Amino acid sequence: MGAIQEKQVEELVKHREKAYLGGGQKRIDSQHAKGKFTARERIAQLLDADSFEEFGMFVEHRCTNFGMEKETYPGDGVITGCGSIDGRLVYLYAQDFTVFGGSLSESMAAKICNVQDLAMKMGAPIIGINDSGGARIQEGVNALAGYSEIFQRNILASGVVPQISCIFGPCAGGAVYSPALTDFTLMNKDTSYMFLTGPKVVKAVTGEDVTQEQLGGASVHASKSGVAHFVSQNEEQGLSLVRKLLSYIPQNNLEEAPLAVCTDPINRLEESLNSIIPDSPNKSYDMYEVIRAIVDHSEYLEVHNAYAPNIITAFARFNGISVGIVANQPCKMAGVLDINASRKAARFVRFCDAFNIPLVTLVDVPGFLPGTGQEYGGVIVHGAKLLYAYGEATVPKVTVTLRKSYGGAHIVMSCKQLRGDANYAWPGAEIAVMGASGAIEVLYNKEIAADPTVAEQKTKEYTEKFSNPYNAAKYGYIDDVILPMNTRFRVIRALQQLATKKLSNPAKKHDNLPL
Ligand code: HXC
Repeated sequence: MGAIQEKQVEELVKHREKAYLGGGQKRIDSQHAKGKFTARERIAQLLDADSFEEFGMFVEHRCTNFGMEKETYPGDGVITGCGSIDGRLVYLYAQDFTVFGGSLSESMAAKICNVQDLAMKMGAPIIGINDSGGARIQEGVNALAGYSEIFQRNILASGVVPQISCIFGPCAGGAVYSPALTDFTLMNKDTSYMFLTGPKVVKAVTGEDVTQEQLGGASVHASKSGVAHFVSQNEEQGLSLVRKLLSYIPQNNLEEAPLAVCTDPINRLEESLNSIIPDSPNKSYDMYEVIRAIVDHSEYLEVHNAYAPNIITAFARFNGISVGIVANQPCKMAGVLDINASRKAARFVRFCDAFNIPLVTLVDVPGFLPGTGQEYGGVIVHGAKLLYAYGEATVPKVTVTLRKSYGGAHIVMSCKQLRGDANYAWPGAEIAVMGASGAIEVLYNKEIAADPTVAEQKTKEYTEKFSNPYNAAKYGYIDDVILPMNTRFRVIRALQQLATKKLSNPAKKHDNLPL
């Protein structure tokens, strides 16, 4: 004991320097040559400057199989700790590919579990940066047990603290299930891939020739499987996207998202919206134009932008209040609801509800996509997910019907009876069981067969009676018919009024969402 000696300081510095080098300079150079940053470089880019507090820098693996005791690295392939993003606490881990390919050992798992536990105790988001060859083969079942411990914590943290996964390298085998259990997965273009079984196994089992990129690259998961919510062009962009994402969401399920400063006038009139709906109901327009016109500073962060583009899910703000926007996109498949759109929107609605983020729904939906492809794929159950998500959501729900809102799709898209708080419609909205032409076919098919001129008159009658917002408003299903140019102001006023909303669902062990 006594005063710290120079020798001790030198020893500490030496230990730290060794840890900073991970698997060594050669492997760091090889990581850079692949266009990838090291785990430490990623953390430095993600966090506020000088905010990183590292835990477990000197932890080593305890494996003695295959002579492993002779090869140890301080930190054992993962950097863990906490820091801040825009001054808000976050916990994180970043796998270090330079140490045994970032493969998961028992010690690595314990380090990851530690930050997961701390994030839960402190009520702060957790971010995982994945770059790993999967289970550390030399450790066998201990590595599998480690994964299981992580997954269990992912499950318990779900809906309590936001969980974000970045995939900046390989993520294969069972390792994919940690990102899949988290709220958002970001993949980096060209340098990341995710799959349960790699190309060699695929070839052996199915005979299919496929590359890593075709099987599980970023674009595949962003557009075909929906596994990836975001794709970045490079790691820097990906990490700044994570920072942006966190700005829209609260620290945990008991808090609200931060209120941003808004200098965009709340009563800004958007005259362009008065003429955005085309004269013909069969013509489309771009829902992004509506979103840009009504949200603060025309800024939003889209989730899943390449997957199921017939529905848009995005975070945005109204007078500084963070909201989740769900909007049918008329210029993609006429904005129809299908299996993928339902799954995408349901997951988003549930995230927003779990984390106290109000929902703003913009409706222009012709119905559910018909056909055997959809029915065989279980559109009934998948559509029910979105219905369920809206129906169980207790956050403020503001719905604006811009044009079509037909049948089951009308109900699913946050209608009044699913406890919609403020349901508005534009004057040209058509809220009905189905569109006029379909309805006339069903009701008057014999008459039309005998005299085709009947169709026009009957269509006119139906349109006047049902294809307007006033019929629904008459029954109180629509709270008000609003001018398109006033939409921003009316949504903001509704959100302000609903800010203190309190609503809870019946006590239960957990729900039984139609999975
Ligand atoms: C131990 C591993 C490793 C692993 C890679 N390494 N994966 N060590 N366990 N799983 C080591 C390599 O020996 C090498 O060590 C270093 O990491 C870098 O690997 P390379 O092969 O040189 O890199 P690269 O060419 O970029 O290829 C990366 C790779 C490949 C595609 C990930 O390494 C690979 O295929 N690894 C095995 C993947 C795998 O089958 N994992 C098990 C999946 S099953 P040196 O000393 O040369 O630097 C699984 C079950 C989980 O994960 C279940 C959870 C429920």
